[in-house]
Amino acid sequence: MQSTFSFVILSLFCVTLGDKKRLLPSYMKMCDIEDKELTACVREQIVASLPHFTKGVPELNVPSTDPVKLDDIKINGNGLNLTFTEAAMHGLSNSELTDLKVELGTQDEAFSLTLKANFSLIAKYDIDGRILILPIKGNGDAYVHTQGVAVNIQSKLIHMKNSKGEHLKMITPVYKYDIEKTTFDLRNLFNGNKELAETTLKFANENWKQLMDELAPPAIKQIVLTVVKAINKFFSNIPITEMIKGYKERL
Ligand SMILES: *[C@@H]1O[C@H](CO)[C@@H](O)[C@H](O)[C@H]1NC(C)=O
Ligand SMILES: *[C@@H]1O[C@H](CO)[C@@H](O)[C@H](O)[C@H]1NC(C)=O
Repeated sequence: MQSTFSFVILSLFCVTLGDKKRLLPSYMKMCDIEDKELTACVREQIVASLPHFTKGVPELNVPSTDPVKLDDIKINGNGLNLTFTEAAMHGLSNSELTDLKVELGTQDEAFSLTLKANFSLIAKYDIDGRILILPIKGNGDAYVHTQGVAVNIQSKLIHMKNSKGEHLKMITPVYKYDIEKTTFDLRNLFNGNKELAETTLKFANENWKQLMDELAPPAIKQIVLTVVKAINKFFSNIPITEMIKGYKERL
């Protein structure tokens, strides 16, 4: 009887402790607002959490970001109609953090990060029109490999409050990007006419910039929105004081 009672007490105690357990995932550690190397510390946490993040963090309601499912992309213009449907962008999980700037605890808080990755877009395509002078027509499976895509996202941070406490939120993010190279593999061009398809694809790949001028903006925009959404989901689940030691709440 006595021992059962102790056991119950002990269990309750453990559950209570369990509730108080830190919200920060185990692969991240707290940074200190007084740390002169605060940015370096934040960088370490981002690098440590990137692989987890892209797979999704169910306990923090952060969805997987690899692949990123894209809305349909429709390009009408310049004598070319191109549609991508059922599109998914693979590659965020292998991205590298190449630049990071953090302003925290200051009047205007902000951060800027640059991710570099190789992306593969897998989709169904439908193309009709001309690339420069060359006619192109077909539909089928598309594999678009982009190499050395650097995406820089800059955002202000504001404070919000929810049941878990005061937390950060990225607002009005702006972004820019750069792409080193793109290779298009459009299967079944010209209804499978191999010779015509090969010549045209070769030409398309030599003039990849022309196509990417139209294709990249909607794709990159959706990638940025997905990343920002995931980061904000993460922020909203972890009070700022659990991420940054010594941080003074504002709300
Ligand atoms: C992208 O691909 C290139 C060439 O295959 C490779 O050298 C580079 O390391 C890759 N970058 C990333 C971020 O995976
Ligand atoms: C592209 O689509 C528009 C409207 O959907 C159409 O008027 C035009 O003829 C098409 N152009 C080509 C080259 O198919």
